[in-house]
Amino acid sequence: MIELSYSGTFETVLTDEKKAALQEIHANLINKQGQGSEFLGWLDWPSSVSPEFLRRIQNAAESIQQKAEVLVVIGIGGSYLGAKAALSSLSPYFDQGDKKPEVLFAGHHVSGEYLKQLLSYLDGKEVMVNVISKSGKTTEPALAFRFLKKYMDERYGDAAAERIIVTTDAEKGALVNLAIENGYERFVVPEDVGGRYSVFTAVGLLPIAAAGFSIEQLMAGAKDAEAAYKDFDAENNAALRYAAARHHLYSEGYTTEVMAIFEPKLSYIQEWWKQLFGESEGKEGKGIFPASVSFTTDLHSMGQYIQDGTRNLFESFLLVRESNDDLTVFEAENDGDELNYLAGITLQEFNHVAYKGTSAAHLEGGVPQLTLTIEKMDEFHLGHLFYFYMIACAYSAYLLDINPFDQPGVEDYKNNIFKLLKKPGY
Ligand code: PA5
Repeated sequence: MIELSYSGTFETVLTDEKKAALQEIHANLINKQGQGSEFLGWLDWPSSVSPEFLRRIQNAAESIQQKAEVLVVIGIGGSYLGAKAALSSLSPYFDQGDKKPEVLFAGHHVSGEYLKQLLSYLDGKEVMVNVISKSGKTTEPALAFRFLKKYMDERYGDAAAERIIVTTDAEKGALVNLAIENGYERFVVPEDVGGRYSVFTAVGLLPIAAAGFSIEQLMAGAKDAEAAYKDFDAENNAALRYAAARHHLYSEGYTTEVMAIFEPKLSYIQEWWKQLFGESEGKEGKGIFPASVSFTTDLHSMGQYIQDGTRNLFESFLLVRESNDDLTVFEAENDGDELNYLAGITLQEFNHVAYKGTSAAHLEGGVPQLTLTIEKMDEFHLGHLFYFYMIACAYSAYLLDINPFDQPGVEDYKNNIFKLLKKPGY
């Protein structure tokens, strides 16, 4: 469960008017109505996903684990960030030595230096590729796959087909045709689930399972969240309350939300969250700008701005109560570094004190705050958290009268690039 607190009072936020608006939004969501409702497949996906589907993913993951030392996952945006966030936040910081396969990403930018060095890194290792693109035509992953496909064909010949798995639309796009022509194993991205809401489909589940994490637990967490946020309960529904508070702050002129963490491995959850909220809400001249900081690191850089800069920021802390590992500060004989006053406290406890001190200072500086706490970082709690943010994002966008599920603005830059590169038809 998510524990949510707010530096103001929820009574001020949840006015009768706001509650009525949220009630209507909630009813529309549950009845799958409203703007963009054709993309609400993610809403009851956790409770409707079949055990056979999960078994199929698990079988593919086990086959990857047997055959590959390195799995290259190709994708961008929603076809990249969910898996990346899960892998970063669930994995230990340093390689444990026996981890197989190593999961590497490609196609999430266009660095020739990165791709060339990745291809050299693969030499001498057993490789598999999972290329993910719902539309099947996004330039960055398509380009990366062009290079990876050639590499795999040259290295494995006909056997390359057994080492490439495609996750894409059932029918549309160049990728599905490539998959059929070459006989690659295929997973389908459901029509009614958009990229940034797709972490619980094969898009996220296959790389997460291949990396050795429990997709059963991840989905159990998502299902738990689906049940928790199904009822309109303005007193207890944390997703609804989070959306209501951020909408209230936005209307008071707080146009930037800074998500702050104290555990660096959560930084890709921040990236995933930034995409989710930025791409869902930032339309029609409206929306909160999602930004992120990692404390205490950024207290030595961005902390100054947060404390004293332009007053349009609010913070949302994401805290994890239990850490997976910890150290206790010990008493040093001569106290040369003058840290003996800390003896006996764990670094996690230190971070908690840092949160309290930072939160008080920033509040004093005029930065309102929301704090979300989860019990621990494991598959179950992560599944719950992903779902929490997705439904909170839908509430938030609808409160601004925005369709959360389209992204008309991302086409403009693409069209310019295509024109500059003289792509046929542009
Ligand atoms: O959320 C979205 O829809 C986007 O961020 C897409 O995920 C991203 O553009 C990648 O698209 P595709 O999966 O079609 O390659």
